[in-house]
Amino acid sequence: MSVPTSAISARHQDLDLRVVAGSWPEGIRGDAVFSAPQVATDLPFALFGFGVMCRLSLRPGQHGAGDDRFAWRTNVVDTPSQRLHRAAAETFLPGPTGYVSPFGFPNAANTAPLPWDGRLFATWDVGRPVEVDPDTLGFLGEVGSQRSWGPATLPGDQVLPFYFSTAHPVVDPERQCLWTVKQSFNADGSTQLHVVHWDGLGTEVSVWPISNGVVFGSSHTVSQTRDHLVLADSGNFKADPGEMAGGPRTVTIDDDAAVYLVRKDALLESPNGTPHEGTPFRVAPTTGHFYACWDDSDGVRVLFEHMDRMDLGFKLQEGDRDALGRPVDPGLIGFYNTAMAPSTISEVLFDPVTQQQKVEARHCDEWSWNLELSAMDWSLEALGSPVLHHVAYQGYRPGAVSQRAVELYGDRVGPLPGGDTPGSLVSFRRGSLEVHSRWEFADTGDHITSPTFAPDLDRARGGQHGWVVLPVLSDDGFRVEVFDAGDVGRGPVAVLAPPGRECVPVLLHSAWMRDDDTPVGCERLRFGDDLPEGVLDGLGPDLAAVVQGVVADLDAATAARSD
Ligand SMILES: [Fe+2]
Repeated sequence: MSVPTSAISARHQDLDLRVVAGSWPEGIRGDAVFSAPQVATDLPFALFGFGVMCRLSLRPGQHGAGDDRFAWRTNVVDTPSQRLHRAAAETFLPGPTGYVSPFGFPNAANTAPLPWDGRLFATWDVGRPVEVDPDTLGFLGEVGSQRSWGPATLPGDQVLPFYFSTAHPVVDPERQCLWTVKQSFNADGSTQLHVVHWDGLGTEVSVWPISNGVVFGSSHTVSQTRDHLVLADSGNFKADPGEMAGGPRTVTIDDDAAVYLVRKDALLESPNGTPHEGTPFRVAPTTGHFYACWDDSDGVRVLFEHMDRMDLGFKLQEGDRDALGRPVDPGLIGFYNTAMAPSTISEVLFDPVTQQQKVEARHCDEWSWNLELSAMDWSLEALGSPVLHHVAYQGYRPGAVSQRAVELYGDRVGPLPGGDTPGSLVSFRRGSLEVHSRWEFADTGDHITSPTFAPDLDRARGGQHGWVVLPVLSDDGFRVEVFDAGDVGRGPVAVLAPPGRECVPVLLHSAWMRDDDTPVGCERLRFGDDLPEGVLDGLGPDLAAVVQGVVADLDAATAARSD
């Protein structure tokens, strides 16, 4: 089996799931939320479509579902970008980071949900975070005005500015603010990091350039301790100018990547725009996701989920043969080239004073292919004393590895397995990275997606007490497996599935949120107020009218919400 073709052919839809195996755990509550792209068959990279927010209620009978059904609800996030596309799709053309249009660069907001005290945000690497209504899953506002973000990554005033940012901003639980980044291009094609800070209440952000913060790939994750931000060059996605110009892909990902520690208080104590230096380090292999412990009194301890030989810029295309020499399944054209080595995780301790670093633990195994995503407890208590870290591995998938990629990497790729290997859900002990428990998905037709940790709110926090909620995509139908977080090796304690064996397309990141928080009121950025002065004059009357129509529709939606 390869990656299920339903992963990029199914359509997002509302489903009422039922328990089809095991019994639903007492005490589980809240919502699991998932970001996903609408699969865009008109884009060379099918996963750059406009974002969908999906929400699974972990209590039955919510959002119109029957008493014994669990509501899976979906909504296309109707950002100004998505609304402009809907109104004038013929003017949107494929580009290297999704669509390009006369309005500028749409924000797909399709990668990760970010809950914050009852509020919900959707993020991606190439746009500002977008606030979504946790109930309707509809658009509320983008984070920070264009004016306060400052010059866009690609210069020029646009209705839709191009901000190269991060898919994983962080919420600071003590300072009650959001930390993210902006990148600006340097002359050599690298980008320069800027830290962006938002207090969550208004329409303005603060921005400080990090003068030595150079990134050659992307800054996919921002992590934090009490006093430091942890920024990195994730290195798994590199733009290839030759490929953008129509040639073959020749750029490969790096063997290691830069990490920068930046003191939060130094930023906050300086005027907006003041340049700062980060304390530089390097880690290997490259890494998409990493998570620091909150307590940094003995140094900055970071768990890195490495993505060994996983090149997210390398997509499957027409005419490709897979790692076993077979023509690539036409249903997978546009999917990314999956891992060409087993994935490593490590814990690294950085000393920002001495600039020493030490790898304190590392794990890589014969089953650790295609580290997908992970689940952890995001409470402040757990960030201070994490106990278990749950990681989903998809297994090796030769059908989604292109020979073109194997040949390009040459001897940087070791011997590859002769066929598909099973996926796993693995709980690692924090600190030692010993395997606490592991569950293997015997069916290699299963496509394991993003796990999320739903805490048992009556017990100690740290990732060990609660449940791991794991959606599984399959051409045989979608299901959600729920594991006891303290013993995932027992297998799922309950499985949810839709009654008609419906399939669900690719899901990206997930998060858990309470379903009983009342978000605070705040001012939100109005799209009409965000348009740079005179920007409509350059569009011509027809396209200017399209923008004004979207402004009016969004204003009407805001007015309807406040009634
Ligand atoms: Fe991510």
